[in-house]
Amino acid sequence: MTGARYILAIDQGTTSTRSIVFDDQGGVAGLDQREFAQSYPELGWVEHDPETIWRDVVDTARAALASADVAVDAVAAIGIANQRETVVVWERRTGRAIHPAIVWQDRRTTDRCEALRQAGHEPLVQARTGLRLDPYFSASKLAWILDHVPGAREAAQRGELAFGTIDSFLLWRLTGGRVHATDATNASRTLLFDIHRQAWDEDLLRLFDIPAALLPEVRDNCADFGETQADLFGAPIPIRGMAGDQQAALIGQACFDEGMIKATYGTGCFMLMNTGSRPVTSHARLLTTVAYRLDGRPTYALEGSIFVAGAAIKWLRDQLGLIVRASDTSSLATSVPDGHGVYMVPAFVGLGAPYWDPQARGLIHGLTLDTSAAHIARAALESVAFQTHDLIAAMFADGAARPSALRVDGGMAANEWLCAFLSSVIDAPVERPVNIETTALGAAFLAGLGAGVWSSLDAIAGGWRLDRGFDPEMAPREREQCLEGWRDAVARTLYRPE
Ligand code: G3P
Repeated sequence: MTGARYILAIDQGTTSTRSIVFDDQGGVAGLDQREFAQSYPELGWVEHDPETIWRDVVDTARAALASADVAVDAVAAIGIANQRETVVVWERRTGRAIHPAIVWQDRRTTDRCEALRQAGHEPLVQARTGLRLDPYFSASKLAWILDHVPGAREAAQRGELAFGTIDSFLLWRLTGGRVHATDATNASRTLLFDIHRQAWDEDLLRLFDIPAALLPEVRDNCADFGETQADLFGAPIPIRGMAGDQQAALIGQACFDEGMIKATYGTGCFMLMNTGSRPVTSHARLLTTVAYRLDGRPTYALEGSIFVAGAAIKWLRDQLGLIVRASDTSSLATSVPDGHGVYMVPAFVGLGAPYWDPQARGLIHGLTLDTSAAHIARAALESVAFQTHDLIAAMFADGAARPSALRVDGGMAANEWLCAFLSSVIDAPVERPVNIETTALGAAFLAGLGAGVWSSLDAIAGGWRLDRGFDPEMAPREREQCLEGWRDAVARTLYRPE
């Protein structure tokens, strides 16, 4: 490679977009971030404006480069990480989306998924994709757009439209419409991709009635994804890395050995365990997914997906006005000696793993006249730990060995109280790295591997640094009592009891 030694990472998440310039040691040289509006047009629907997302990506990338004071020719490559499963369909001619992006949290296709389940299609879907028939994934949302936007299906059949998750949409825009591609991790979340053959699956395309002409080409995570249009940043920048944000975080956490686990606390919480070259089929309602694909060789992961983690804190702030800043939850939680029997099940958009109940709705249970705001804030934080516990338990049920530690990252990992409580609830050490922006870091690593800034996964793993470790402190009896209360609250929440 040339003298270029910086990487620009774009992390397009569910509620915010950030761009970070990393140096070749993985240090942050410049950063910019923007929250954007969520749209809830009907009960259970969640949409994003693709134009806002695009504008924020360009603006934050420019601002990050400016704050790093780095010339464009010092940037070796761009890496992209993105909220997964969210669907965009756009016109190839104009690049304009024909409908707002339907977000992964959107439940409008619950009935369609349920009908397919009832018709007995779930085993096929699971065998090919490693996923479940749940509205969480892209396929039913894509079908919904084709069914509801007038003329869309015919235009798709004529090859005039393109489908993509957010990565593909951004890539299309960044390259001025020259590249329509995705990567294997994002493809593995669509419900249309055979993770064993690493190819779009004709049977699934038929099942969801999706014309193949819509689909992007699927590439490795460190592939050549083209280069940006010169006028965007002053000169073209190669795009050399792309991954779904949770897989990017796994890479940022350097979980390259079989059995290593990370949990990322963003809008939701997503726990991924590296299972090596083996796609492990879950019998405990977890997902099998592509962790990364390098040189055509896929590495797989077992995934537990929790739909609401940080979103519960955002809800306390924006909807209840209980806190001013997310970090206020920490002092509130420690201001009371215990949870006082209050449990929150944040099933705002149904429940993901291991319950998979799209129609469950949130609940706060155990209220008494002396319940305070502190108890509710604490219950919201505790729910994040309890949900993580349920995922670990499911991984054990699937035969996973007890991990030496759970590596945590994302905004909520900054909360010391939560990390300590989490360690006690899962009864295992929790490790927090120095850089908890691991999603962006993972995207940077991928792009840097592609551009030759880093030579190997080992070189990346060698740079992982522990900030703080947390060890379990709760007595077994207390822990069991807490979990019992949690299980009881979850049972009250389920629409579709087990
Ligand atoms: O599968 C959804 C996930 O990719 C969203 O991630 O970071 O926006 O919560 P995040």
